[in-house]
Amino acid sequence: MALGGTEVTDPGPRHIAIIMDGNGRWAARRGLSPSAGHKAGAERIRDLLSACRNRGVKVLTLFAFSSENWQRPPKEVALLMRLFHSYLRKEARRMCDEGVRLRVIGRRDRFSLRLQRAIAEAEEITCGGEQGDLVIAADYGGRWDIAQAARRLAEEVADGKRTVESIDEEAMEGQMQLADLPPVDLLIRSSGEQRISNFILWQAAYSEFFFTDILWPDFGEAALDEAIALFKQRDRRFGGRAGADDSAVPV
Ligand code: IPE
Ligand code: IPE
Ligand code: MG
Repeated sequence: MALGGTEVTDPGPRHIAIIMDGNGRWAARRGLSPSAGHKAGAERIRDLLSACRNRGVKVLTLFAFSSENWQRPPKEVALLMRLFHSYLRKEARRMCDEGVRLRVIGRRDRFSLRLQRAIAEAEEITCGGEQGDLVIAADYGGRWDIAQAARRLAEEVADGKRTVESIDEEAMEGQMQLADLPPVDLLIRSSGEQRISNFILWQAAYSEFFFTDILWPDFGEAALDEAIALFKQRDRRFGGRAGADDSAVPV
């Protein structure tokens, strides 16, 4: 989200994705209901967004509600929907002022029409943002994402717009969510769980992972800095051999 000019010297992540986990346990430790944890968790997002912007991160993708989270108790789901709605209503204007473009990825058709409208309005209000992107994954599943990409390509074949032979990784990539944004450099999960829980399965192929025991409502700038510092120490080889000088090194 920061403005450019630092790319050459700054090896920091351009795109961070976060699985915001641990709201329930944060609340339980205080004798509170999960709802209190979700409220506290939602409160973290504003500061985190500006912390990312100040650190040169151009895209922040947040996993807010998975396609499996519908299995939660109806009251909890309803509270999460209300929080999402009020977040969009409250924050869209501020994001617009700060030049942040908002995008929501995931299925939308299972949300109420009111929530679908709020999503569309927030995206519309912020669409001119050029300082960075905030992506909220809601009713999102990595398997859904892959399946919808495959379906779109199949439709193009059925319509005679492409051949079966033209379907390759690049064609799939073009249909995946986030395809137009920089690759996810760093994937963070809070709360101590070390799994991907059907988040960005395709896009995380070469992401660096950072797991922290911190529960999401306690995740602040210090945790973000730790994640970024560790990211900077990683040797990203992408399957190659770092520092290889092809002529001098015996095979
Ligand atoms: C993450 O917190 C928020 C959502 C899944 C919406 P959890 O509610 O999963 O928190 P824990 O895992 O129960 O602590
Ligand atoms: C993943 O967390 C989804 C979000 C953070 C939105 P969950 O708490 O739902 O994942 P599991 O159940 O621990 O795998
Ligand atoms: Mg959880």
